[in-house]
Amino acid sequence: MNDQKRDSTRPSTIESSIVSKIEQKAARVGVIGLGYVGLPLALSFVQKGFETTGFDTDPAKVEKLGNGKTYIRHIPEAQIARAIEGKRFHATDDFSRLREMDAIIMCVPTPLDTHREPDLSFIHNTAKTVSAHLVPGQLVVLESTTYPGTTEEVLLPLLEESGLRCPVRPYSTDGNSIAISEDAEGDFLLAFSPEREDPGNKEFERAQIPKIIGGVNAASARAARAVYGSVFARTVIVSSSRTAEMTKLLENIYRCVNIALVNELKLLSLRMGIDIFEVIEAAKTKPFGFTAFYPGPGLGGHCIPIDPFYLTWKAREYGFTTRFIELAGEVNSAMPAHVVEALSEALNRRKQCLHGARILLLGVAYKKDIDDLRESPSLEIMELLLKQGARVEYHDPYFPRLHRMRRYDFQLASVELTPEALSEPEAVIIATDHSIYDYSYIVRHARLVIDTRNATRNVKENRDKIVQC
Ligand SMILES: NC(=O)c1ccc[n+]([C@@H]2O[C@H](COP(=O)([O-])OP(=O)(O)OC[C@H]3O[C@@H](n4cnc5c(N)ncnc54)[C@H](O)[C@@H]3O)[C@@H](O)[C@H]2O)c1
Repeated sequence: MNDQKRDSTRPSTIESSIVSKIEQKAARVGVIGLGYVGLPLALSFVQKGFETTGFDTDPAKVEKLGNGKTYIRHIPEAQIARAIEGKRFHATDDFSRLREMDAIIMCVPTPLDTHREPDLSFIHNTAKTVSAHLVPGQLVVLESTTYPGTTEEVLLPLLEESGLRCPVRPYSTDGNSIAISEDAEGDFLLAFSPEREDPGNKEFERAQIPKIIGGVNAASARAARAVYGSVFARTVIVSSSRTAEMTKLLENIYRCVNIALVNELKLLSLRMGIDIFEVIEAAKTKPFGFTAFYPGPGLGGHCIPIDPFYLTWKAREYGFTTRFIELAGEVNSAMPAHVVEALSEALNRRKQCLHGARILLLGVAYKKDIDDLRESPSLEIMELLLKQGARVEYHDPYFPRLHRMRRYDFQLASVELTPEALSEPEAVIIATDHSIYDYSYIVRHARLVIDTRNATRNVKENRDKIVQC
């Protein structure tokens, strides 16, 4: 028996129309925000035979995609070119075309502002645009990570400025089928479904990661289930958009807190002369109750350093302090300074000082093998080094140049990893453990290696040059 048949209520007209269009591959899908989340999602719908339109406010991205070009390294140009040539994918900045869509999925950024509070301006602006073009019968889904309540309290009122209605109605679910006493008949449907991708992780194919869906009412949840069910192997329905929003935050807070825990234990282990990485490998052999997390030079990426603070902000409305999140934030954000301190101490032991020293940093991406440097701890380490008077150079195969960023402006180019480039600086910091690095070669030529990732664990010779930190 399929899920639709198990559901205990009569489908709303909008819902049944969307479900049948999905079944016939006639649904038109619009994805707003063609970044790391939106572009691959749009291409997944294309791959399954849906006519898909990508909307973005950045004309340069729209133009590149229109010409079949990529701007995200792990998304092959051939896939984009095929989608464009097959006329199944269109990229546009003409938002009036939102009217033609059956499902509209929002994948816009949710950063923190300068006071480290949620910056919902992207959701706000997108919602206003969608509202201006909303037509009866559409399903709108938010994918951006955000605090519980955003879909119902922020997005819904903005969409209803269109004059169209979407009633909020509780429903219950066992994760698959949906049981309610009363269904809602509105003008449009609205749901939240978080993105759960782990960039650079080749072990899990995107379509195999179960897709969480929470609707503001049962019809919205069921329509969103039909849409995502055409692309993802498994959908998991939760009882509201708030529950779906909280689920995503739990996942990211779990990572943030556990990384802080191992970072703290690393600092203690260093003092005690214990190798924390050996400890983690040993603990990992326990077949239950332990998940391995690894220490590093600090948190990076668009999610883990940011998302938990969305909940911290929302919790204040309830007079509640999220102590684990605050503490994890404190521990994790102190890690770049710890790296610089470890370097400074290592130079001291060699009767050298950081001021005036030439330091080569390897890896500016926030984690290995990806071309994303958002919130990367490497950038903060570079800034701390410069403040202490060091002369900083870097190498990263994914970033030939460091252009001006919101917080940083280094204006540096990646050096070539020649024996001289490694041996001339007083020290080399391994900040990101990219797989392409030959760590034996690095240690052989460098004078001093500060290893923040245990990347040199298999290097047999010259171990006296390595400082684990
Ligand atoms: N990157 C990840 O791995 C990841 C994983 C899970 C969740 N998320 C969440 O997904 C959301 C999107 O993240 P991302 O990494 O794709 O961001 P991104 O910066 O890579 O992409 C966002 C895109 O939205 C566009 N945009 C901004 N404002 C717009 C507007 N008003 N209308 C249309 N387009 C607009 C930007 O030009 C950009 O192309 C965020 O909430 C993030 O927290 C990201």
